[in-house]
Amino acid sequence: MTQEQANLPRHVAIIMDGNGRWANQQGKPRIMGHQAGVRSVQEVVRCARELDLDALTLYAFSTENWRRPGAEVESLMGLLQTYLENQLDQMVQNRVRLRTCGRTDRLPAKVRRILDNTIRETDGNEGLILNLALSYGGRDELLRATRRLSSRVAAGELTPEQISEQTIEAELDSAGLPDPDLLIRTGGERRLSNFLLWQLSYSELYFTRTLWPDFGREQFLAAITDYQQRQRRFGRTSEQLTDV
Ligand code: IPE
Ligand code: IPE
Ligand code: MG
Repeated sequence: MTQEQANLPRHVAIIMDGNGRWANQQGKPRIMGHQAGVRSVQEVVRCARELDLDALTLYAFSTENWRRPGAEVESLMGLLQTYLENQLDQMVQNRVRLRTCGRTDRLPAKVRRILDNTIRETDGNEGLILNLALSYGGRDELLRATRRLSSRVAAGELTPEQISEQTIEAELDSAGLPDPDLLIRTGGERRLSNFLLWQLSYSELYFTRTLWPDFGREQFLAAITDYQQRQRRFGRTSEQLTDV
């Protein structure tokens, strides 16, 4: 790995978009685009491990994706199940720790079972945290967090004044994870599509027209190199950052 080690992101989040268009371009059914996308997932996960990133969050299925034709949703769930079944040994071997965000209770029982099993088997691993966003929506996550906080207030455990950014964060699905330093979206669209609305507040954004099945190690490293050249100011001036 020849990647420059300075200023590496700790946490990268990816909106993996463009599978359907990739398949269309080749005159294939959409699901073949999703199948091809699994290869990109494997390559990017491997690369993230080699770079020793702390966390990689992949947007695999949104709350809005339930609106897709039933057959496509079913195939996506099937692919997810096979992916997890095939990767379990490797994840354990590579010390990857799986976690999820989103309404995983809405996933088919078979998927939930392998998901729970993989999370259990990889719990305690100290390598890359692989965070899969499944049936995930940023608004839905904030809504659930708000409800939990409100019940604590109603129960007298917490006063409204005690609610802080930290107490909100602790109720999010991503509790304990650092915010993504870098968000990558493939497929050419420049929108967030309800992804990590709270956590992306100061992330660097990287949009590429490359369709997800064509996105691999080289493209991932290009995004990281782009990130490494940016100056993150968090409201301060450039001078404040360069003065020592
Ligand atoms: C992303 O690819 C995968 C999911 C949203 C599950 P798309 O299926 O959205 O591909 P396009 O945007 O139609 O090309
Ligand atoms: C975003 O992609 C969701 C995932 C990549 C899982 P979409 O293809 O669903 O996004 P929109 O609908 O074009 O915004
Ligand atoms: Mg899309």
